[in-house]
Amino acid sequence: MGAEEKVNILLVDDQKAKLLTYEAILGELGENLLKAQSANQALELLLRHEVAVVLIDVCMPDLDGFELAEMIRAHPRFQATALIFVSAVQVADIDLLRGYAAGAVDYVPVPVIPDLLRAKVRVFAELYRKTKQLEALNAELELRVAERTAQLATANAELELRVEARTREREAALAQVHEMQKVESLGKLTGGVAHDFNNLLSVVLGNLEILRKYAVHDPRQLRLVDAAIQGAERGATLTSRMLAFARRQELRPETVYVPKLIEGVVDMLSRTLGPGIQLSTALDLAAPPTRVDPNQLELAILNLALNARDAMPDGGKLTISARAERLGVNEITGLGKGDYVCVSVSDTGFGMDEATLKRAVEPFFSTKSPGQGSGLGLSMVDGLVAQSQGAMRICSQRGAGTKVELRLPISSAPVIETVPEPNLGQEPDGPWRVLLVEDDPMVAASTSAMLEDLGHTIVEADSAKRALDVLRADGAIDIIITDHAMPGTTGTELAAQVRREWPGLPVGLVSGYNELNGEEQSDIPFLLKPYRQEQLAQLVAALARHLHRDRSKAKFDGERFPVDTAEVLQSLRDR
Ligand SMILES: Nc1ncnc2c1ncn2[C@@H]1O[C@H](COP(=O)(O)OP(=O)(O)OP(=O)(O)O)[C@@H](O)[C@H]1O
Ligand SMILES: [Mg+2]
Repeated sequence: MGAEEKVNILLVDDQKAKLLTYEAILGELGENLLKAQSANQALELLLRHEVAVVLIDVCMPDLDGFELAEMIRAHPRFQATALIFVSAVQVADIDLLRGYAAGAVDYVPVPVIPDLLRAKVRVFAELYRKTKQLEALNAELELRVAERTAQLATANAELELRVEARTREREAALAQVHEMQKVESLGKLTGGVAHDFNNLLSVVLGNLEILRKYAVHDPRQLRLVDAAIQGAERGATLTSRMLAFARRQELRPETVYVPKLIEGVVDMLSRTLGPGIQLSTALDLAAPPTRVDPNQLELAILNLALNARDAMPDGGKLTISARAERLGVNEITGLGKGDYVCVSVSDTGFGMDEATLKRAVEPFFSTKSPGQGSGLGLSMVDGLVAQSQGAMRICSQRGAGTKVELRLPISSAPVIETVPEPNLGQEPDGPWRVLLVEDDPMVAASTSAMLEDLGHTIVEADSAKRALDVLRADGAIDIIITDHAMPGTTGTELAAQVRREWPGLPVGLVSGYNELNGEEQSDIPFLLKPYRQEQLAQLVAALARHLHRDRSKAKFDGERFPVDTAEVLQSLRDR
């Protein structure tokens, strides 16, 4: 009820004239005046209207005022309605008390003093109005409290849900970190083992190659040596995959159009997979290029295809697709927002159960029978992709096939076409005086043997410091070949010092894995362990070429002689 809203005032008197008098007196109040000439009429009006004040004549013929008041009060709706009695005769105290007992709140004696009547009625009308306003406000307040309580309950429920979701996310992230730490430490361990193995394999392969030359006249000895070489080469393949997993392999990233690269290996793949497997491709040849080592990527795709083949012993379908893809923030774990090329290799094979899927990328985890799988395939792929700033994702279910996705960031670097070097004339053929710097005596001995077998003269030094002493004492050194990882001064540091003091003297580096940082390795001819005699010969020839060009201003072009991936592919295919 608004402040200006009128209230109803009921006037009850059997005499019409008196009703008119009251009407005249109270008209000034500006409220609604209802009139009743009998108790019955009064009750009727009361039931139909909200009445603020009832003005009752005490003496009425059918029902006197007190009886009417009692009836009004008896009704629950009118418990608080203000009743004012008007009486000319019964004004003794006893009458007043009877009136109050009947529910009167006030008494007006006759003759009525207009101002007094108006004042009394105004007070009760105002009280009624205020009470109504208060009630309305109260109801509104209750409504608002209820609304706020509901809002709070919703907010609370939402908060709880969010807390639950965050807790789950945190737990998942922690599990992931734990998993990454496990793989990381396995990687370190594997990398270390692979590094030592590379040195051992260098010795084995180097010596076997020399031995092979002595055995050419005895077919039986030759067979034995060849078998030993083959075994050692398998070992080299294994260490290169271990290094790939440990993310320490020497990568030679190039700007690569992945769909084109896949198109180029499809024939080889379908031959490798055999007739039981139906190979299909969906390649978007317009996809932008990425920076990745193309040989390693081929090897990775071959690994995935071989896994698919092994999962489909009774034949099936293998689909390889490559397309450009734009990723938003946090869309794929480990990858930022940006443009990628997504390679997907999916098969219709027997798939993996949850436990296998969880461990599939772990190095040395394999469900294949001994001799059938080393458990390094997926870890090699994962290592390569991670080392190329991408990510691998596997989706698989028992009985529902497997899909492996590789995502590689697209590269904005321009494609550099390699321009063949102009032929600068006849290569000098040596033999050369080679300073071999190697801290591992076994590796030094086998490398020396290979170089000597090539006709060169070898001077050995087991540290960079000794090498510098040799250089100062022996002015006839033509070429230096140094190991990178040595205690004290590294091979790269030695090369830099040699370049300063003996600018025309060519230096070649050998290393077990990618421990050189990009800048240092950029222009030093480099050979990856374990190497064959032929690769060593190529390194020496490359160094000699630089020697021949200009001894005082040697400029190297960063030639590398890594493990031949074609050989690795062949050995995988043969398995
Ligand atoms: N396409 C696939 N379908 C079903 N299971 C697969 C698939 N790819 C991998 N796996 C499971 O994951 C394991 C690990 O695979 P991974 O390629 O790392 O090693 P491997 O194939 O066993 O041995 P390797 O590749 O070294 O010869 C497999 O042994 C196999 O259980
Ligand atoms: Mg495999």
